[in-house]
Amino acid sequence: MARHSRPSLIVSEAWEAYSFAGLKIRIKESTDLYGAVLWPSAMVLCHFLETNADQYNLADKNVMELGAGTGLVTIVSSLLGAKVTSTDIPEILGNLGYNVQRNTRDRCKYTPVVTELSWGQQLEERFPRSTHRYDYVLAADVVYHHPFLQELLDTLEHLCQPGTQVLWAMRFRMEAENRFVERFQKRFSMELLYDLPSLNIKLYRGWKP
Ligand SMILES: C[S@@+](CC[C@H](N)C(=O)[O-])C[C@H]1O[C@@H](n2cnc3c(N)ncnc32)[C@H](O)[C@@H]1O
Repeated sequence: MARHSRPSLIVSEAWEAYSFAGLKIRIKESTDLYGAVLWPSAMVLCHFLETNADQYNLADKNVMELGAGTGLVTIVSSLLGAKVTSTDIPEILGNLGYNVQRNTRDRCKYTPVVTELSWGQQLEERFPRSTHRYDYVLAADVVYHHPFLQELLDTLEHLCQPGTQVLWAMRFRMEAENRFVERFQKRFSMELLYDLPSLNIKLYRGWKP
């Protein structure tokens, strides 16, 4: 596979409505990119955050979302009181910013920031570890058969400092996903939080030992 993010043939133009944190959320799925579609892992992660707010309290926490796509996880985290940096590749940021702004304006304590983070690129320049400390790094369905898995691991490593927790939901499709879990385990401590076999989705928590 070439080392660039490829458009798919997904050409739907639709609104989807969700309800999280007691509020209606409307997500626009559009254009022709994977990230412009809402993936089920995002809903699983949002459900987890909403129903486990006692133990994983996002209020006033610094949160980074990787591969935010249509923005549901960013929106729900912001509604739950987090200061969110929502990131993806440049092609995705227009629709992501639109969904995030539309669903968080006048509803959140902190306005989420939508910005580029292409995995493995300019990490220390754009997100220096001395000033950018995150309580949570969130990611939904960022592990699949793509050519940036090493860069994704490097990005997680860069963003994780003592006290940072990675909450990461993934759908298992092919062998590549299993191997990524093994590679992640070599660099992070981790535990399984959810196992949803009917959806082939697992939710993990990772942290630096
Ligand atoms: C399957 S989608 C998941 C989107 C969203 N998290 C969800 O669950 O609905 C994968 C996301 O990872 C992003 N992505 C892919 N390669 C990337 C890269 N090299 N750097 C940053 N983001 C990337 C895509 O643009 C897309 O938004």
